[in-house]
Order: sequence, then structure tokens, then C-alpha cells
Amino acid sequence: MFRTHTCGELRINSVNNEVTLAGWVQTIRKFGAITFVDLRDRYGITQLLFGEELNQQLDTNPLGREFVLQATGTVHERSNKNSNIPTGDVEIIVTSFKILNKSAVPPFTIQDDTDGGDDIRMKYRFLDLRRNAVKKNLELRYAVNRATRNYLHQQGFMDIETPFLIKSTPEGARDFVVPSRMNGGQFYALPQSPQTFKQLLMVSGYDRYYQIVKCFRDEDLRADRQPEFTQIDCEMAFVEQEDILNMFEGLIKSIFKEVKGIDYTEKVPRMTWEDAMWNYGNDKPDIRFDWKLLNLKKPSSVYTNKKDSSELITGASFGVFDNAETVVAIAVPGCSDYSRKQTDELIEWVKRPQIGMGGLAFIKCNKDGTYKSSMDKFFNEEKLKAIAAACNASTGDLVLILAGAEERTRKAISELRLEMAERLGYRKKEEFKLVWVLDFPLFEYAEDENRWVARHHPFTSPKPSDIEIMISNDPAIENAAEYLKHPYANIKANAYDMVLNGNEIGGGSIRIFQRELQEKMFAALGMTKEESLHKFSFLLGAFEYGAPPHGGIAFGFDRLCAILGGSESIRDFIAFPKNNAGRDVMLDAPSTIDEKQLVELQIRSTAK
Ligand code: AMO
Repeated sequence: MFRTHTCGELRINSVNNEVTLAGWVQTIRKFGAITFVDLRDRYGITQLLFGEELNQQLDTNPLGREFVLQATGTVHERSNKNSNIPTGDVEIIVTSFKILNKSAVPPFTIQDDTDGGDDIRMKYRFLDLRRNAVKKNLELRYAVNRATRNYLHQQGFMDIETPFLIKSTPEGARDFVVPSRMNGGQFYALPQSPQTFKQLLMVSGYDRYYQIVKCFRDEDLRADRQPEFTQIDCEMAFVEQEDILNMFEGLIKSIFKEVKGIDYTEKVPRMTWEDAMWNYGNDKPDIRFDWKLLNLKKPSSVYTNKKDSSELITGASFGVFDNAETVVAIAVPGCSDYSRKQTDELIEWVKRPQIGMGGLAFIKCNKDGTYKSSMDKFFNEEKLKAIAAACNASTGDLVLILAGAEERTRKAISELRLEMAERLGYRKKEEFKLVWVLDFPLFEYAEDENRWVARHHPFTSPKPSDIEIMISNDPAIENAAEYLKHPYANIKANAYDMVLNGNEIGGGSIRIFQRELQEKMFAALGMTKEESLHKFSFLLGAFEYGAPPHGGIAFGFDRLCAILGGSESIRDFIAFPKNNAGRDVMLDAPSTIDEKQLVELQIRSTAK
């Protein structure tokens, strides 16, 4: 037998037993004639003690970090116990050992607080994966995987694989393409998601489908995006939106329970997209803290049914407010005593290019009942008090106000809200708050092409009450500047996102299942009949053979794991991730290929 126990297994009740362990040398400490070695494997660390009688052997076969070692010996109670590790009560007095393999000196130390930077750890990812911190993340990922499969299996879902070499499925990103040798000059696309396949499976009668599946998107990367990532992809037939929300709320709660031991009993709150944008400036609000935005002046073209407080802030000769398209504020609790230095720093923060604002106004709601502001010249204390009241500010709050163009300003205030919450410790990693965001607009306006694009994807159904608007109106946009006045701008989708702690962890929709409406949708997106047939004849054809009403959702598996693991970066939860430039630095991919391969594929590279 190669080993009798793992390195994480032995406890005090094994004292005097003869055991054999195998693993990697983590550390070597020499004290005179004796040597201590920490031996590590996937399960833990056990201390080995090499006595005087093994000195000679150790001199001729010196050990080094990350050597692979097999050691036999007797379990002893340690005189100097280590309460930090589960095996810390015992050590093995080694009687014989064998070096199974040597190791070069690793480029960084394989321990929790490693000295290796990101690049070097990625280059030697196989060593990084030995570290406890990374291993824990992969264990969590596997636990989420198991919990997902358990729940969906219990609910009667069937895991069905779908192909990777397909024809492009539009999800809004660029496709990765694969040239076909057997069909010269033609390309497959890697799926951005199995969207059309899962819909076809519904037509085929597999009314509860799921897959934990790789998706590929050639898009700009961020901490929460990878070019290849994993989805928990699901679809159901004979359902309404309500059925889907309930089923997948159940999935997430069951993952919380199995993976984190959390009983998430309350119903997941629901918020319309419009309310999310109005109250948080964001379609994925972090509701761990309830600081809503205060819309002091709204732009005239949107949120037509919402009220602002523009009469309070305009007409005071304060050009910044008078001339701004929008003015919006947050009341930050407990910060009225911010010093000049602190408010100056916040002003610099909003001026950073990533935020892009010209400045920041503030009102301090002092504890003594007075009001101080950066706008004292324009607003007397009475007025400041009224503005603060309109912002729902309490004594001790600091009201932060941004003014400017609609989109930039709302994005900036939403970032500022998160930043202040982060600084003040409101974004606790171990607190989890879910919210459904519903009723998204069906279309988005693509300025560069002067046309409508699908906000979710082209298979998403409009709200039944809005179908008529879609059918009876021409999609053409006559006046680009006034696109918001086009009836299409108001059409809402039967689409939903699940948001966890300010991250979109899943999104889906009820689908179109009639050929005519799907054709109308393609036309609304600017596709000619020929184009839509060229791209989607399989789907349109399938809809003629008894397509049932259906809908579904896909969760970002990596994202979900990262948030449950308390991280914003999904890379930490992927065994072999790509870097921010989409490169696998370990494989050094992507790379050029042989001329011979290019010739076979009938491809000529123009890259220099
Ligand atoms: P969507 O495009 O919203 O929907 O994707 C679903 C979820 O996948 C995650 N996600 C990503 N994770 C990591 N890296 C990426 N590049 C990336 N892109 C998306 C997000 C997102 O919520 N076919 C539809 C689903 C459906 O309609 O059923 C789809 O793919 O967490």
C-alpha cells in the first residue's frame, strides 16, 4: 500500500500506530541532530520528525521544498502542540523514508500568504493550485456543483449535453470561431450559451432541461468576466414567469443551505427594472444596505411617472444644478463630521477618469442641528435643511450630490454609493441579499447603428400587453435624438435577472414560441427575412411543429461561486483561468499555428 493515511487524517487516537504517509515537503526545519518536516497533501499537513539515526540518510539524500516524499513511522503525541491544524496534536517519528521525486525550487512559496504575484502564480498555476486558499475555492465550486445537481435532479430536470461546434448564437458578444478543415472557408462558432438548443429541447418535449456548461464570449474582460465561463443553464416548458422565479429561487436557497449552511427563508424581493434604476441608478442593486438615491432633478425624457424635487434646487443661480440634465444624491449615515480633507478626497474620487464627474456637492447635517454645505453661497440654511429633508437625510448624515448628464451622473452616483458603503463596512462578505429585477425593456437603442438591439436576446418575449405595440409599430427610428419617444422604447420584456449582493448572478426570460412573433422580432432588430432565415431557419422551422410555451434562466456559475466564497474575482474560482488580456499564461495561448495547419484550413494570416 502506498500510504495508510492522508496528511490530514491522524489524530491523538492513532498514537503508537505505525503509518505511512505520502505528500509534498512544505517546510524543513533542522534543530541540531533532528529535522522536522511538514508533509502536505490535499487533505492537510502532518509533522514528520527525522531523528538522529536518519541523519546520515538525510545528508546523502537531502530534502527540499516540494519534494515528493513517502515516510513510514510511528504516531507520537507532540510535546509542543499546534492548535492551528487538525493534526496538530501528533507527529510521526519517521523510521524509513523514500524520496519519490525531487522538485526544482518553486518560483513562489506554496502557502496561504504566498510571495508570488498574480502573473507568476498564473504561469505556474499547477503549483498555485497546491495552495490551501485556492484549493478551498475549488472545493466550494464543487460543493455548489453538487448542490445544483441534487436540487435540479429532485425537481425532475434532465442534464442534456449540447454541442460546442455550432453556428453563431447571438447573445450580444463576439463569437469565438473555429475553422472547419473539412468544409474549407467555413467556420463553426463556439456557443455564447446553449440558448437555441435548450429551446429546441423544449420543442422536443424535454420540459425540464439543465446543464452546467461552458460558454464562450469574445468580450472585454473584467474581474467578473472570463472569455470561457460556466453557466447553470436551465429551461422549462409549460411555465409562466412566476413558475420560473419560484423554481430558481428554490435552487439558490438550496445552494445556500447545502454549501453555506444558511437558511435563506424569506421570499426574494422583486423590483422592477425602472425602480432599480430610479432608486439605485443600477440594474443590479446591492441591497445589503438600503441607501436609495434621491432624485432631486430628473431628466425630462425618462421616468415620466416619477416625482423629483427640482423646485427645491433650481432657480438659486447655482448653474451646476440649473444647467444639469439630472441631479441626484445619497445620504450617507454618520459622516456629517467629515473634515475638509475628507470631502476634498471624495471630490477627487468622483473626478477620477473612471467616474468622470466635474465635482461633488455636499450638505453636512450636523449633530447640533446646523447644516453646512459646499453650496452655502447659493442656499441658506433653511434651504439646505429642505434639500436634506428631500434626501431623507437624518442628523449626522452627509448628503452627497452629483449633477450632470443623465447616464454618466447616475452611473457615478451608483458607484459612489457602493464606494461609501465599502468604506463604511456595509458590504459584508458573509451577508447575502438576493433580489429579482423584473420587467426589463425589451429593446436597447444602438446609437452607432441607429437601430434596436435586444436587451437580453432576440428570443425573449415581450410582455403580453406590449405585443400589440410591437406588431403595430414600425421599428424605424426617424429621429435618433428622440429615440426614447419611439413606442419600442417602452416595450417591456418578460425577462428577469437574479442579483446577489450587487452582482448579476443569473438572467433569463419567457421565450417567444410562435414563428410570426419571432419573425417580427428579427425584423424589429433590423434583420431582413433572408438574414433571419439564413441564421435561424432551424428555430423558425421548429416553431412550426408544435412548440410549447417555454422559458428559462442561466446562472453565472463562476460568479455565484466567487460571491459565495467572498470574492469579486471569478478567476480565483476557476482551476485554469485566463488573464485580463484573455491569455492563458501557463499554456502561452493563444499562439500562432504552423503554416501547414493554416494551409489545410485554407486560412492566410495577415497578422504581423
Ligand atoms: P446571460 O447572457 O445573461 O444569459 O448570462 C447568464 C449569466 O452568465 C453570467 N455571465 C458571465 N460570467 C462570466 N463571464 C462572462 N463573460 C459572463 N457573461 C455572462 C452572468 C449572467 O447573469 N442564454 C441566456 C440565459 C437565458 O435566457 O436563459 C444567457 O446566456 O452571471
